Amino acid sequence: TEPLRLGIAGLGTVGVGVVRILRQKAALITERTGREIAISAVSARSRGKDRGVSIADYAWEDDPVALATRDDVDVFVELMGGEDGPAKAATEAALAAGKDVVTANKALLAHHGQPLAEVAEAAGAVLRFEAAVAGGIPVIKALTEGLAGNDITRVMGVMNGTCNYILTRMEDAGLTYDEAFAEADGLGYLEADPNLDVGGIDAGHKLALLAAIAYGTRVAFDAVELQGIGSVTIEDIRAAADMGYKIKLLGVCQMTGRGLEQRMTPCLVPAASPLGQLTGGTNMVVIEGDHVGQIVLRGAGAGEGPTASAVLSDIVDIARGTRLPTFGKPAAALTQATPAKSVAP
Ligand code: HSE
Repeated sequence: TEPLRLGIAGLGTVGVGVVRILRQKAALITERTGREIAISAVSARSRGKDRGVSIADYAWEDDPVALATRDDVDVFVELMGGEDGPAKAATEAALAAGKDVVTANKALLAHHGQPLAEVAEAAGAVLRFEAAVAGGIPVIKALTEGLAGNDITRVMGVMNGTCNYILTRMEDAGLTYDEAFAEADGLGYLEADPNLDVGGIDAGHKLALLAAIAYGTRVAFDAVELQGIGSVTIEDIRAAADMGYKIKLLGVCQMTGRGLEQRMTPCLVPAASPLGQLTGGTNMVVIEGDHVGQIVLRGAGAGEGPTASAVLSDIVDIARGTRLPTFGKPAAALTQATPAKSVAP
């Protein structure tokens, strides 16, 4: 069998992680997939930067679109980020050229997932994004494969580790919001635009993607009821604790009689529940299906190893010949979601 040849755009934390895993685990991955996986070419903002891993063996492209459409690239791996700009242009170019795409880009898919899925389908390409939601937790594969025999009745979760870290530090160390925010900043947890984290937007992107998969609806990020954690005070947290609750930035999506409810807001959760016990920069996704009941997935939602692990899972699927549609069913068959205004749970 011919090797599966990758073009990787973006050599930040996640891109470097993917290169590292592929270098360390080549034999194991070939054994598991029956196919060698090779990196043909890479692109990033700066060529010369020391990343702790050598890229000398790979061809270099300055332009991600050129990388995405190279003849020696079968799979374009998009790890640049950003909802528009080069990530979008290169993803579109790759799909239009019939190349498979693996991305970790939640913003791109939350805003443009439907048209991108349509381009992929028309070209016979696949577009996969396991790493875009809850980092290392294989939640998309859980929904599309492991739970395929279920009607999903509800998906809930903590999907932004930075917010969970800030809220945990307020609770455990008595820090004010500003102090906890500054601490998270010092640890490098915040996105370049911190409002993506603390405004709930990053988590809202992830929720909208899970809702599309769980309910077979078009991605409807604009219909997510969003509220960040910026107005949560230490007094709120203490009052909640007195009653046996914790405050979490909680995402909930469910299909109601009035339409699709999607909320990403600070919520009270019982302190003794799995969600209540989730501390630090961790993620948790709780899925309820009509046959399986409730399952709880917990793990790292960010970072080199966990996010690269999820990217690899999509690459391995493609190497095995899995041709799942982007959102678990053909894009043309996704229904328009009627947004429901939420009621308190
Ligand atoms: N800023 C995100 C988080 C990283 O804190 O969870 C992954 O999207």
